[in-house]
Amino acid sequence: MKISKKVAGVEYAIRDIVLAARKVEEKGMKVDYLNIGDPVQFGFQPPDNVKEAMINAIRNGENFYSSSEGLKELRIEIAKKENVKGLSISHDDVLITNGVSEGLDMVISSIVEEGDEVLLPGPYYPPYASYVRLHGGIPVEFAVDLDNSTPDIEDIKSKITSKTIAICLISPNNPTGVVFNESSLKKLVEIANQHNLYIICDEIYDQIIFDQKFVGIGKVAGDSPVIVLNGFSKVHLMSGWRIGYIAFNQSSKLDALRENLPKLARVRIASNLPVQHAALESLRGPQGYITEFVSELKKRRDLVVKRLNEMPGLSCPNPKGAFYAFPKIEDNKFGTDKEFVQKLLETKGVLTVHGSGFGEKYGSGHFRLVYLPSLEILDSAMNKIEDFVS
Ligand SMILES: Cc1ncc(COP(=O)(O)O)c(C=O)c1O
Repeated sequence: MKISKKVAGVEYAIRDIVLAARKVEEKGMKVDYLNIGDPVQFGFQPPDNVKEAMINAIRNGENFYSSSEGLKELRIEIAKKENVKGLSISHDDVLITNGVSEGLDMVISSIVEEGDEVLLPGPYYPPYASYVRLHGGIPVEFAVDLDNSTPDIEDIKSKITSKTIAICLISPNNPTGVVFNESSLKKLVEIANQHNLYIICDEIYDQIIFDQKFVGIGKVAGDSPVIVLNGFSKVHLMSGWRIGYIAFNQSSKLDALRENLPKLARVRIASNLPVQHAALESLRGPQGYITEFVSELKKRRDLVVKRLNEMPGLSCPNPKGAFYAFPKIEDNKFGTDKEFVQKLLETKGVLTVHGSGFGEKYGSGHFRLVYLPSLEILDSAMNKIEDFVS
């Protein structure tokens, strides 16, 4: 039967690689899964008050379709959160989605047409390129200095053409942990405005940050066409519940998008209502669990980065946020990063993701691992990687 070319080309390296791990397990080898960025699969859980909120919502009969834009109280709380970060919006500027993934799909579907170019930070979280391609667009990667966490402004300028319609930012970034500072964000907004580009900023890791204070795009947005994507999968440990949101800056340049994008929200009816009650509780309730989670992650990051940098042939910049390390393979006797990752899996049972899965241009020659497992498991995985590269 017929299958569309656009869907046949979709890839998601982070999950695709799991098939290879299953084969290794079938042969009887234990696999350390360092591929998936889901804190809940590594022992972290949403707090009880948040779980209770969802259970109570179900018990109280909140089991119907919510409004397409989402629960008003939740949108009010989200607007407050984003305003603390620097935006100046109301609940009317917030649309609840089934995860950032759905929000991204809606935004890209609404703006990209055949041949349009979208700038992405190199390397990037894969669905950004997938959704752009799905709609006939062309993802264009720009360089980022991973050691200094700065975007290469000259490189961005050189890549803007008459076809460029948007720039996507992911800060803190997956897979690199890069966090852009205020001055970089300011420069990015300036360039985008000069060229009339949408600015799409993914801040899903906004509170998972280790060495500096987080600055969101809202702080420097002014009246620029900024669209913030955010969600509850990472900071709030609700990955399996699938909830996120789109926040639109107050900008007349977003008028057409704001009129049209909600049609997509109506077509898909609504996002999960009991989960919206849980998300509301996660914003209103005590926030201590986030501090504990982040301080635990910092210990894991410090261990992993130290160990990786002591290994021959690997170098790893210090990730400033999120929960990923992205070491460079300085001397790869296997040729490609994909083969390196495959051999590491087959011989040592450590599952990572090849860097080129996050963009060929800047991701190649690296691999990504998550530092969500316990210190003991990470230490043992580091021993195996050290053995392998030695
Ligand atoms: C940068 C980034 N955005 C979005 C997502 C997915 O978000 P959600 O679970 O809200 O769909 C991820 C998950 O790894 C991510 O790393």
